Parts: sequence; structure tokens; C-alpha cells
Amino acid sequence: MITTVTLNPAVDKTYTAARLLLGQVNRMDSVKNIAGGKGINVAKVLRQYDYPVKALGFMGGYTGRFIEDYAKEIGIQCHFTHVKGETRSSINILSQDGYVTEVLEPGPTISEAELTLFLEDYDRETKDSSLVILSGSAPTGIPSSIYKELIQRSKKQGKKVLLDTSGQFLKEGVMAKPFMIKPNVKELEILADRKLKGLEEIADAAVFLNRQGIEHILVSMGAKGLLYVREGEVIHAKAPKIKAVNTVGCGDSTVAAFAIALESGLSGEDMLRMCIGISVANAATLESAVIPRDLAEELKEKAEIVIL
Ligand SMILES: Nc1ncnc2c1ncn2[C@@H]1O[C@H](COP(=O)(O)OP(=O)(O)OP(=O)(O)O)[C@@H](O)[C@H]1O
Ligand SMILES: [Mg+2]
Repeated sequence: MITTVTLNPAVDKTYTAARLLLGQVNRMDSVKNIAGGKGINVAKVLRQYDYPVKALGFMGGYTGRFIEDYAKEIGIQCHFTHVKGETRSSINILSQDGYVTEVLEPGPTISEAELTLFLEDYDRETKDSSLVILSGSAPTGIPSSIYKELIQRSKKQGKKVLLDTSGQFLKEGVMAKPFMIKPNVKELEILADRKLKGLEEIADAAVFLNRQGIEHILVSMGAKGLLYVREGEVIHAKAPKIKAVNTVGCGDSTVAAFAIALESGLSGEDMLRMCIGISVANAATLESAVIPRDLAEELKEKAEIVIL
């Protein structure tokens, strides 16, 4: 069993309209609602590869129920902590004049009592998981030390934890030395506390973290692919060139692919090929975290692996 944690899920609403005018009535031509949030995306990809997955996190109100219903439909075992507030919606308005307007809700505020309930759910529900995946940011009311706390709890139980977050949550999370982290370059810069230019500087920063006791560092570099450090060895997996259609969920697809590789005993080059195949297939597909498996297989073979 793999457990994913999404503290701040969202319904991603995409509208299309001829144009958007401030202070006017704006009629939309179409709307599409998708259950989102980084850990939910990871769970979605894992289900497409038939892995048993549990999903934890905070859910509230109608939007929370929408996400939970969808998750159940695709076979995710849901053990969300239900809260009083309403799960957020993230609104994207695509207008024909080329503008993309985003409206992001703040999400619910989590009370101390709700956080305590979540920690109980976490301890109970991760017991039968070999792997715990912590993804994304957290809503108001959650301390920035949350991932550090969750990693410490899981490590005591002998679980492997994958961490994919940003900012202060990431800074504090790495203090507990998770099994693996997947920063993008911006997130790695936050950890290194400096700007990183070129592969060499990125590799140096990743090796430094690896020496500090994080076993697997997988740096994602968008169209440039992945840089992977383990036991001081640095590998660059170049992504094949594709026409990127929608890169939302590429990081989540990479994390899911790493988990798939781990669960099926793949490592090094084979693991990296799996990550490139799935994440690049996600970039080439309109709906996020929906992976055409044939395309992923094809792209896997096209990844170029270079040991630095
Ligand atoms: N334009 C692209 N072309 C080809 N592959 C891409 C592209 N964008 C992303 N990828 C693939 O997806 C992986 C992860 O993407 P990226 O580095 O953008 O993650 P991220 O910044 O964590 O994204 P997010 O958190 O928004 O999901 C890359 O390492 C690469 O393999
Ligand atoms: Mg990311």
C-alpha cells in the first residue's frame, strides 16, 4: 500500500470565455471541474498503474465531497480528515484574446482540534503502507513544521517517505531527512540558499543534501529533464523533445513514477527512464495526471542518460 497526503487539495475549475471584463457580467462558454491537489494527482497516476493507494488530507464542504467522490470512483481508498471549512477551488479562465486569468481561493483554516484529528488519522492509516508520499503546501492553521513532524513519525515506524513541497515546508521538512525529495530548481535554490546556474551548480547543491543524509535527491528541471543523486553519484536524464500541451502535474507524475519504480524494484537508470516516460507523457497530454501508458513507454526509451 502507498499512502499519499494532500493537506491542501483543490477543485481545479477551467472556464473558457470570449473575453473577461472587470466589473461586468462575464458569461463563460464552458466549464470543466477536475479533482486536484498535488497528492491527489500522485494517487491518480498510481491508480492508472494499478497500485493500491490510500489518500489522506483535509477535506471540507461540497468541493471536498466532489474530490472524494472522484477519488473513490478511480479506486483510491479515502481516509480524509473532514473539516468545517470548504476545500478550495482554483479557477482558471482561458479567454480567446489569449489571457489566462487565475482566481485562487485561500482554502479552509484548520483548527487545532482538526489538526489533532488528522495526526491520529495519519498514525493509524499509514500503518499498512510501505511508502508515504507528502505533497504540496498546507492550509492556514498548519505549522510549517508539519512535514518534519510527519516524516519523524513515519521514520520511527520504518516507512520510506517521499517529500515534494516548497518554501518553509520544504526547508523544515528536509531537517527530518526524508528518504527522497523532488525539488525543482527553484525549490533546490531555497534549500541551498543561493541561485543555481547550470547543471554543475545544481549537482553540487544536490550532492550536498545527499551527504547530509537524504538518500535520494531527484531534481526536476522542466524540459531539461531530471538530475538524480544517490550515494554521491550524479546522473542526468535528458527529456526527449515534445510539444508540451499542459505541464500541470508534471512534478506529481515524476513523484508517482519514482514510487512505481521503487515498488517494482527498479533503480538508477531504469528508475530514471520510468520518471522521464511518465512525466513527459503528462506534459504532452491535455488533462493533468492522466498518462497515456503507450506514450510513456515510448518516451522512456528516448530518455538520454548521462552519468556526470
Ligand atoms: N516542457 C516539458 N517538456 C518535456 N518534459 C517536461 C516538460 N515540463 C516538464 N517535463 C517533465 O516533467 C518533469 C517535472 O517537471 P517540472 O520540473 O516542471 O516539475 P515541477 O516544477 O515540480 O512541476 P509542478 O510542481 O508544477 O508539477 C521534468 O523533469 C520533465 O521530465
Ligand atoms: Mg513541483
